[in-house]
Amino acid sequence: MHMNKTVALDEARNALVIIDQTLLPGREELLYLTGIEDIREAIYELRVRGAPAIGVAAAIGLYLKAVDIARAFSVSDKTPPEQPPDKYNTDHFYFELHAAKNRLLTARPTAVNLGWALDRMERAAMEQNGGPVSAIVARMRTECLAILEEDERVCVAIGRNGLELLRPGMGVLTHCNAGRLATASRYGTATAPIYMGHEQGYNFKVYCDETRPLLQGARLTAYELTASGVDATLLCDNMAPSLMSSGLVDAVLFGCDRVAANGDTANKIGTSYVAIAAKHYGIPFYVCAPSSTIDFNCADGKSIVIEHRLPGEVTNKWFERRAAPEGVKVYNPSFDVTDADLVAAFITEFGVIRPPYQENLKRILKDGRWKLEDRT
Ligand code: MRU
Repeated sequence: MHMNKTVALDEARNALVIIDQTLLPGREELLYLTGIEDIREAIYELRVRGAPAIGVAAAIGLYLKAVDIARAFSVSDKTPPEQPPDKYNTDHFYFELHAAKNRLLTARPTAVNLGWALDRMERAAMEQNGGPVSAIVARMRTECLAILEEDERVCVAIGRNGLELLRPGMGVLTHCNAGRLATASRYGTATAPIYMGHEQGYNFKVYCDETRPLLQGARLTAYELTASGVDATLLCDNMAPSLMSSGLVDAVLFGCDRVAANGDTANKIGTSYVAIAAKHYGIPFYVCAPSSTIDFNCADGKSIVIEHRLPGEVTNKWFERRAAPEGVKVYNPSFDVTDADLVAAFITEFGVIRPPYQENLKRILKDGRWKLEDRT
């Protein structure tokens, strides 16, 4: 891959720069986006996708909006005479910023990282309340770059922690794309232990579910792994149990979009089906989870909002000719929830978390750098 990162801030152009993932693996094209509507469209259409990457993209998008609002105030005198200039400007700045935040938030509902990153950006802006607009913008720039840089550190830590659970030569199954294309890191989340093992000569055999209907496993994971020299094999989603029964899978490594307080985990549609099969075959199912993807406001999986997408993704997209009869009803949830009791462990940047998740996940936040003993 030519671009170092899937998502970045181009300060010379004042733009969010992303790899347009809808064109992969055929073409690697960069998009430079400046307006909130274009950034929202890119997130909705999965030009940039994966929970951490959309959080970073939205954070940069909100910063660019802040630059824009500040510029509009400085070129035209919008201050009515009866208002003190700073107060008027600041109130309007926050009002417009909040509207842009809400607009981005509606792009995709399931990945908590989107709201998490936008809340962080708004909080950073509010810290400067009372000061000049230029100081608010500067603070937001610092915050979006911090979110971007943290992603690299978090993925490296997940890679190190995850690698402790794996042995050289293992067969590892993954689903969708929780790789470098889904984050702002060179390692991704679920692929971080794989890339790190690869650097150390572990010779993993990696199996990539194609991931119907949007084919992130085939188009993105198989692409980035093979481009990096990792031994990768592609399979259709319905072949995973057959692969497991043949003894070729030693561990399953998945990403996540939102983890509820009890450990129920939303991830790409098809995840729960693989988790159920893994339990049947006695294969550990690990969820690679940055702490930013754990949502303590969701008590359990039932309170996670699942995104449903357009029927055309199932009937037409990626087919040369329509593959289903006109007018057929289509069920197209983009994510599903895997019950916590199917998850062998969460691999976070702070360590490997084993059950009971209700207590142990909470301690991550409370104790920050707390490291859980591996109890198995
Ligand atoms: O619809 P997508 O492609 O954004 O879904 C992505 C996933 O489900 C990933 O597994 C998840 O976001 C984790 S990415 C590190």
